Amino acid sequence: MATRICAVSDIKKGSAIRVKIGDTAIAIIHTPDGQIKALDDKCSHGEISLSEGFVDNETIECWAHGAKFSLDTGAPLSLPAYEPVAVHEVIIESGDIFIETDLV
Ligand code: FES
Repeated sequence: MATRICAVSDIKKGSAIRVKIGDTAIAIIHTPDGQIKALDDKCSHGEISLSEGFVDNETIECWAHGAKFSLDTGAPLSLPAYEPVAVHEVIIESGDIFIETDLV
């Protein structure tokens, strides 16, 4: 099932927002080059929202200890994180962001 999140224009490029779908917090990321990505909004190293981290075109960096995660796969790309975070499929339709999820 796809859930509408917001308009693409509601998220500033180079930033992320936190949304809740069911009980799961998801970081919706707008990269500097205009891609929209969605990852679970919890660093795999601790109880920190990745949406409060630093965004580039390929990664999001946790502000707490600097672990970086791939926006495409959720894989940890640097220590201290070892575990990946879940990635969610994003659909853009008429300028709106939808997340494909069975979390609801
Ligand atoms: S809590 Fe994210 S790197 Fe430590």
